[in-house]
Amino acid sequence: MPASVVLGAQWGDEGKGKAIDQLAADSSWAVRFQGGNNAGHTIVLGDTTLKLHQIPSGVTSQNCKLVLGDGMVIDPWVLEEELDRWRELTGESPEGDRLFISERASVILPFHRMYDSADKLVGTTGRGIGPAYRDRIERVGIRFVDLGAVSSDKEKISETAERMNKQLAAVGVEERIEPEALMADLKWIIERFGDAIRPTGLMVDEALRDGENVLLEGAQGAMLDIDQGTYPFVTSSVTSRANATHGAGIHPGHVSQCFGISKAYTTRVGNGPFPTELPYEEGPGNHMAMVGHEFGTTTGRPRRTGWLDMVALRDSHRINGYTGLVLTKLDVLGGLEEIKICTGYQLDGDVIEVMPTSCDDLARCIPVYEVHPGFPALSDEDWIAMADESRASGSGLGAMPEKVLRYVRRIEELSGIPVVSVGVGPDRRASIASAGGPFDVNPVEATF
Ligand code: GDP
Ligand code: IMO
Ligand code: MG
Repeated sequence: MPASVVLGAQWGDEGKGKAIDQLAADSSWAVRFQGGNNAGHTIVLGDTTLKLHQIPSGVTSQNCKLVLGDGMVIDPWVLEEELDRWRELTGESPEGDRLFISERASVILPFHRMYDSADKLVGTTGRGIGPAYRDRIERVGIRFVDLGAVSSDKEKISETAERMNKQLAAVGVEERIEPEALMADLKWIIERFGDAIRPTGLMVDEALRDGENVLLEGAQGAMLDIDQGTYPFVTSSVTSRANATHGAGIHPGHVSQCFGISKAYTTRVGNGPFPTELPYEEGPGNHMAMVGHEFGTTTGRPRRTGWLDMVALRDSHRINGYTGLVLTKLDVLGGLEEIKICTGYQLDGDVIEVMPTSCDDLARCIPVYEVHPGFPALSDEDWIAMADESRASGSGLGAMPEKVLRYVRRIEELSGIPVVSVGVGPDRRASIASAGGPFDVNPVEATF
C-alpha cells in the first residue's frame, strides 16, 4: 500500500494533528519528515487533549509505528518531556519499541535555542529550529548517528563549543557553552535515546514494500515553506509534498494521496504579511480568535486572524497538488452575519490572482472579496450529532445545512480541490467527511 501525505495548506495550525489522528487507525506508520518542536499538533479525544510537538500524531493508534524522520531537527529534552507526559497518560514508553528517531535527523542543542533567542525579525518560536538547520546546511551540525563519535572526541567538543560561543557573542547573547556540559549533554542523549536511534528510511521503505500504509505528517504550512513561502517570514525547512518522501528517506513514487489541511478562515503566528488579516480586537477577526481559541499550541502567542485567502490556497495547491482538501474549523464561523473569501488581490491598480514573490509587494496587496451569507452558531454537541448522523446515514457532506454546504462547495470550486472532510469541532468525532472518501471512517473510542 502507498503513502499518504498530510500538509498544512496555509501558515500552520490548520488542524493537521486531528487529521493525522483520524487516519492513523488505518495506518501502520506515521512519519514526521521536517521541522521540530516548533510544531504544536493538538488532538482532542473527549476529555483528553494532547499537544504534540515532535511525537507524530499517529501515536494515538497503538498499531501505528512512529518515526521522527531524516529531515527533522529534534530537541531531545523536549522529546523526553513529551514522552513523560505520554507515559503518565497511558503507561506506555514507546521509544525504541514503536517510536524511532532517524540516525540522519539533526540534534537541537541548548546553543541553538540560545541563538534563536536573538531573532528580532521573524518572530520565531524560539525553539532553535533555524539555527539547527543552519548548522546542518553549514555541515557542522550533529546528527543522531554522530553522537557516539563526537561525544568521545575532546578536541571536536572544544572546537564546537568555541564556534558556538563566538556565534552567541556575535548576536549579543550573553550565555556561553562549556565544553564539559556539551559533552555531558551528548552522552545523556545517547543514554536516553540510544535504543530508538535507527536507519528509519530503510524501515519505512521495507514497510511500504510489505504493503503497509504510511502517513507522512507535515508540520507548519505551505506559506511557511523556506523556498515557496512568504520569505523571510518562514520556517527553515521545506514543508511541502516534495520533501515529504525525501525527509522520510523514501522515494516520491510511493505517494498516492496528499491532503491539504486548511481552516475555513486564516490564521498566522509571528511576523510577516497577511493580506486578509482582520482587526484582532473587534468584529469577525475577534470572533475567530475567541470562538476558535486561536492561541499558539507551542508558544501560547495569540494567532492573527483573517478571512480565507484563496490566492494563498491556490498557490499552496500549485506546490503540493492536493488530492483532497480537509476544511477545518468551519464551526467557528457560525454566528457571523456574513463570510468573505478573498479571490484576488489589488496591487498597484491591477487585480492579480497569484501571490507576488516579494513580501513588500504582498504587504501592499488589498484583498478582493466575495461575500457569502453567514449561518447560525451551533454547540459542539450539535455539530457532533450532525457528524454522527452523516456517518450513520452515509449522507456525507449532504448532512450539513444548505448555506454551509454552499460555502464548502464554493471553496471546492475556487480552489479546484475536492473537499474530503469538514471540521466542525476540535474532537476526533467532529468531522463531516465526503461519503466513501478517505476520511469516511468511524472514529474509534480512545482507550485512555
Ligand atoms: P496543527 O498544528 O495543524 O496540528 O493545528 P493546532 O493543533 O496547532 O491548531 C488547531 C487547533 O484547532 C487545535 O486547538 C485543534 O484542537 C482545533 N481544531 C482542529 N480542527 C477543528 C475544528 O474543525 N473545529 C474547531 N473548533 N477546532 C478545531
Ligand atoms: P504547526 O506544525 C504556526 C512560525 C513562527 C514564525 C515562523 C518561523 O503547529 O502548524 P521557527 O520557529 O519555525 O523558525 O519560526 O514560523 N511557525 C509556525 N506557525 N504553526 C507552526 O507549526 C509553526 N512553526 C513555526 O511563528 O513566524
Ligand atoms: Mg500547531
